[in-house]
Amino acid sequence: MRLSLAEKASLVRPFDYILLKTIYGLRDKSEFVSFNALKKRLDIKDDEELKISLKKLSELKLISKKPTDLSFKLTFSGLDILGIKLLYVNKILNRLAEIIGIGKESLVYYGYDFNDNKIIVKFHRVGTDSYKKVKFRKSQEKKSWLSITVENAKREFEALTCLSNEGGYVPKPLGVEYNAVAMEYIDGIELYKIPVTNMDLNLDEILEKILQTMRIAYTICHITHGDLSPYNVLIDKNGNPYLIDWPQATKSEERLEKDLSNLIIFFRKKGIDVDTRKIFDYVRGVS
Ligand SMILES: Nc1ncnc2c1ncn2[C@@H]1O[C@H](COP(=O)(O)OP(=O)(O)OP(=O)(O)O)[C@@H](O)[C@H]1O
Ligand SMILES: [Mg+2]
Repeated sequence: MRLSLAEKASLVRPFDYILLKTIYGLRDKSEFVSFNALKKRLDIKDDEELKISLKKLSELKLISKKPTDLSFKLTFSGLDILGIKLLYVNKILNRLAEIIGIGKESLVYYGYDFNDNKIIVKFHRVGTDSYKKVKFRKSQEKKSWLSITVENAKREFEALTCLSNEGGYVPKPLGVEYNAVAMEYIDGIELYKIPVTNMDLNLDEILEKILQTMRIAYTICHITHGDLSPYNVLIDKNGNPYLIDWPQATKSEERLEKDLSNLIIFFRKKGIDVDTRKIFDYVRGVS
């Protein structure tokens, strides 16, 4: 039987959790930790308890064993569990619900906070895509995938925090733990799905709000989105755009140009008259 992530989380007992945390903490660049290193760190005299827990975590696919020796590493699901537990302890996430999206580098879930409001939990996972793997390996000096993944989550949370504090149109960030970013749930649809015949939506206004957010990003937070497209903008029922998906946010002129070009192409196709020069100057804070 395939267990959901929430079901797996409920099966993880305190000692299993400590073990997961220790495997994460002691990992080397290849992400593995030996049985003996675990035994020593946890100060365990009797091997049995450790063996039982390792077996259980392997069966739940939260850790995997090296084929050649008695070493273990966290899987992405194992990392998800650490994130879920800490979001719970910090009173951000009460209950994880269904998965709503499997992205290239993330799994996105609904969940509920302690007031039963729907929230989003995005679990990052970098390294599952082979093209990106090659690209990342070159730039990251052989850092562990788990470390790169956790850094991405942090980067997304920090971008959302700055933008949200400065009045940008983004989901409000609620917390980040390991690879899990909790944020406000936006009840909306992706910009690219908006029907052409929807007369209630004011595309000029939507573009203006996206540009305001990009300007805040560039001039105050000193970042650009890095992957802006109509797929990463949600439109809520009041017609407000929310820019999502910020893990690759960096300060980059080249990426800013690409982000704005994607926007311009989309809005021109929709019949909106856009002046490229004006838009670039506005976002850069020149005008
Ligand atoms: N705050 C949110 N509120 C509502 N839905 C969201 C929210 N964040 C993400 N989603 C949904 O999850 C999908 C994937 O999220 P996101 O774009 O952040 O991840 P991703 O890994 O880049 O996925 P993809 O590879 O599909 O772009 C979004 O297209 C959207 O449908
Ligand atoms: Mg996306």
